[in-house]
Amino acid sequence: MATATESKSAPAKTAPAKSGAAKEKAAKPRRTRRTSRRDPLAISLLKKDHRQVEHWFDEYEQLESPEEKVALFNQIALALKVHCAIEEEIFYPDERGDVEDDMLDEAYVEHDSAKKMIAEIEAMKPGDEFYDAKVKVLGEYIKHHVKEEEQPGGIFAQAKKGEEDLNAMGEQLEQRKEELMASSKKH
Ligand SMILES: [Fe+2]
Ligand SMILES: [Fe+2]
Repeated sequence: MATATESKSAPAKTAPAKSGAAKEKAAKPRRTRRTSRRDPLAISLLKKDHRQVEHWFDEYEQLESPEEKVALFNQIALALKVHCAIEEEIFYPDERGDVEDDMLDEAYVEHDSAKKMIAEIEAMKPGDEFYDAKVKVLGEYIKHHVKEEEQPGGIFAQAKKGEEDLNAMGEQLEQRKEELMASSKKH
C-alpha cells in the first residue's frame, strides 16, 4: 500500500551528444508541443493522488465490517488532508497568475467544504445513521472537485500552459507530502 515511488521518470534530456557532422542538428533543443508530452511531475503526482483516493472510495463500498470501514476511511481522510495541504501551500499559490482567479478561489472553497465533511465523519462511527451515506457523498464531492482540476481548460490544463516549472514544483510537492505523512504518524 505504501507508494514510495522514486521520481526518476523524467527523461534525461541532456545526454552527451556524440559530435559528428551528420548529427549536428539533432541535439538542438526545439520547442516541444506540450500537449503531446507526458505530464510534468507536479501534475502527474497530483493526478496519482486523485486516482488513489477514487480507488479507495470505490473499495469502501465493498466493505461490511465497521473496523475495516473506519480503517479505510481514516486512510482516505489522511490522504485528502495531505493532498489539500500540498495544493494549498504550494500548487495553488504558485499558480496564481497562470490559472483563472475564480477557479482557484472555488478550489479553496471546495477544499474547505471537503474538510468539514471529513471532520463530521471523523466524529461519527460506522453504524451511526448516515455514516455510509456521508462517506459516499464525500466521495462524489471529491470526484466533482477532481474533475474541475483535471478537465480540459481546468486548473491543471491552465497550469500546464503557464510559466511555472511544474517539474521543480513536483519535487517540492513530493517532499512536503512526505513530511506531512511522516508527521501524521507521530500522533
Ligand atoms: Fe484540489
Ligand atoms: Fe487535487
